Amino acid sequence: MGDFSSGRPHIICALLLTCAALLPPSTPDPDDERCLTHLSESLQDPLKKLQNWTKTTFASPCDGFNSFLTGAICNNGRIYKLALPNLSLKGTISPNISSCTNLQGLDLSSNSISGTIPPDLQYLVNLAVLNLSSNRLTGPIPQQLSLCAYLNVIDLHDNQLSGLIPQQLGSLSRLSVFDVSNNKLSGPIPSTLGNRSGNLPRLNASSFEGNKDLYGYPLPPMKSKGLSVLSIVGIGLGSGLLSLVLSFTAVCVWLKISEHKMTAEEGKERQLMPDY
Ligand SMILES: *[C@@H]1O[C@H](CO)[C@@H](O)[C@H](O)[C@H]1NC(C)=O
Ligand SMILES: *[C@@H]1O[C@H](CO)[C@@H](O)[C@H](O)[C@H]1NC(C)=O
Ligand SMILES: *[C@@H]1O[C@H](CO)[C@@H](O)[C@H](O)[C@H]1NC(C)=O
Ligand SMILES: *[C@@H]1O[C@H](CO)[C@@H](O)[C@H](O)[C@H]1NC(C)=O
Ligand SMILES: *[C@@H]1O[C@H](CO)[C@@H](O)[C@H](O)[C@H]1NC(C)=O
Ligand SMILES: *[C@@H]1O[C@H](CO)[C@@H](O)[C@H](O)[C@H]1NC(C)=O
Repeated sequence: MGDFSSGRPHIICALLLTCAALLPPSTPDPDDERCLTHLSESLQDPLKKLQNWTKTTFASPCDGFNSFLTGAICNNGRIYKLALPNLSLKGTISPNISSCTNLQGLDLSSNSISGTIPPDLQYLVNLAVLNLSSNRLTGPIPQQLSLCAYLNVIDLHDNQLSGLIPQQLGSLSRLSVFDVSNNKLSGPIPSTLGNRSGNLPRLNASSFEGNKDLYGYPLPPMKSKGLSVLSIVGIGLGSGLLSLVLSFTAVCVWLKISEHKMTAEEGKERQLMPDY
């Protein structure tokens, strides 16, 4: 028994050493530091919501699973999620956000962020959730997003994005939420998104509505180009028919008037003689 109890400290010691080896040391990460530094420079924070976004914190934003930054969630000493919704942020999204290579979720929704969506997001190979909805983003939806193979949420609704919806996004097999409603997108909805095949989650019209020049399934056909051609033909035919009716009426009226004049003159001559 004495031998056994004297062995205990050794076991505890060994366990502690194993734990220490398994736990990541909280060494600063140069990639996350570059990402946060550039992002904090490109974004503007007029209401000072990001009080502890300071250069000293960027050097070491995470301690294992603890974060020292508002809106940041850490995993194994790396930034894993950035959630900064509804903070009245302005400015732009720095392309250097791609240095946060472990980022799995990026939520900058409901701010006043302008500029374009950086194609550099393609380097965030673990990105699963991208929510940039309700901002003032302009320019195209980068086709390079199709390289983020784990993306399952792309929410870009309520911005001023323009151009075509990249057909490449149809290759994102994990995509279950795709919302580009209320932008300035144009052209046909790629069938790889509008009419997905197999057991891929289907997207309905609510994902696409509110884009004046966007058309195709699943948007209702009333809004599509095909029908506006039909309605132009309809307007043409209708106005043709109307002018035909109008000129016919004019001729009739003219005939009636000249008939009246003639009978009037005849009447004068006949001195109100009764008609037979
Ligand atoms: C940073 O600010 C947020 C709230 O703004 C707070 O929850 C968090 O604890 C702060 N972090 C540090 C390290 O002060
Ligand atoms: C956004 O923030 C404002 C206050 O800053 C608050 O009144 C509003 O409820 C928030 N909206 C959401 C959706 O959280
Ligand atoms: C991105 O980071 C690199 C190196 O830190 C820097 O040279 C470059 O100017 C940055 N780009 C932007 C757009 O901030
Ligand atoms: C994106 O953020 C907005 C508001 O911040 C929220 O209402 C919406 O549900 C989010 N989108 C997804 C797909 O979670
Ligand atoms: C959707 O795709 C199926 C084949 O996968 C096709 O039969 C159908 O016509 C398509 N629907 C539309 C509206 O394009
Ligand atoms: C469209 O899909 C969304 C979720 O993807 C759902 O909340 C909504 O009810 C659907 N609308 C219709 C008309 O089916």
